[in-house]
Amino acid sequence: MSKPALEVSDLSVGYGDVSVLRGLSLSIEPGQLVALIGANGAGKTTLLRTLSGLLKTTAGRIRLGGNELQSLRPHQVVEQGFVQSPEGKQLFPSMSILENLLIGAHIKRARAVRDQTLKEVFALFPILEERQHLNASTLSGGQQQMVAVGRALMAKPRVLALDEPSLGLAPIMVDRLFESIARIRDLGVTVLVIEQNVFKVLQMADRGYVLENGRISMSGSGADLLANAHLRATYLGM
Ligand SMILES: Nc1ncnc2c1ncn2[C@@H]1O[C@H](COP(=O)(O)OP(=O)(O)OP(=O)(O)O)[C@@H](O)[C@H]1O
Ligand SMILES: [Mg+2]
Repeated sequence: MSKPALEVSDLSVGYGDVSVLRGLSLSIEPGQLVALIGANGAGKTTLLRTLSGLLKTTAGRIRLGGNELQSLRPHQVVEQGFVQSPEGKQLFPSMSILENLLIGAHIKRARAVRDQTLKEVFALFPILEERQHLNASTLSGGQQQMVAVGRALMAKPRVLALDEPSLGLAPIMVDRLFESIARIRDLGVTVLVIEQNVFKVLQMADRGYVLENGRISMSGSGADLLANAHLRATYLGM
C-alpha cells in the first residue's frame, strides 16, 4: 500500500479554552478528491488553518507524505506541499491577475517551474490568460475564485485544500468550478475540498468525511454517503 498523501491523527485544536477539534483523525490517499462536510461552526476552517500551520495544535500529529507538519510554520508547510486557497479568496484587488498568480509561486520549488505551471493554470482557466493584465477587482466572483485556486496551484501543491470555493457563485459558475476541481485531481494533485454544496461535492468526490462534534463522525465513498440516512437528513434536508 502507498503512503497516505495526508494523515491526521488524534488532532485537537481550540481557541483559548474553547476546544473545536477533539481527537480528529483522517487519512487521504494520493490522487484522491476528498470532500469535507459539516455544519456551520463545526470546525472545517479551523482544521484547514491548523493543517496550514496558522493555528497551534494542542495534541495530535499531521503527516504529509510521511513528513510531520504540526510544528512547522505556515511558509514551511507550503514548502512541504500543503497549500490552501482560503475562505473568501483573499486576492490583492489592485494587482493584476498575473501578479496575483505569480505570488503563489514564491517558494523555491515552485519558482523553478513557474512558467510551466502558469501554462497549466491558463489551460485550466483560459479566461485568466485573456485577462491576465487586468486588476483582480475587475473580475466576477467566479473568476476571482479561479485566480485564488490558480494562485494555490502556482505553489505546486502535493495536497491542495479549498475552503468553500463555491461560496456566493452563480449555479453555472459552481458547475464550471467543480469541473475544474475534478480536472486538477486528474492532473495528479490530491484535493481536499470543504463545501456547503453537499450534494454536488459528494457526486464528484472519491471520498467524503463528515465533521461533527470535533471529530470525523462518518466517512465513505461519495455514493455511500449520499445513500446514508443520517447524512441525507442532516445535510441534504431529505
Ligand atoms: N478566531 C476565533 N476565535 C474564537 N473562536 C473561533 C475563531 N474562529 C472560529 N471560532 C469558533 O470555532 C468554531 C469552529 O469555527 P470554524 O470557522 O472552523 O467552523 P466552520 O466549520 O468552518 O464553519 P462555516 O461553515 O461557518 O465556515 C465555531 O464555534 C467558531 O465560532
Ligand atoms: Mg469555514
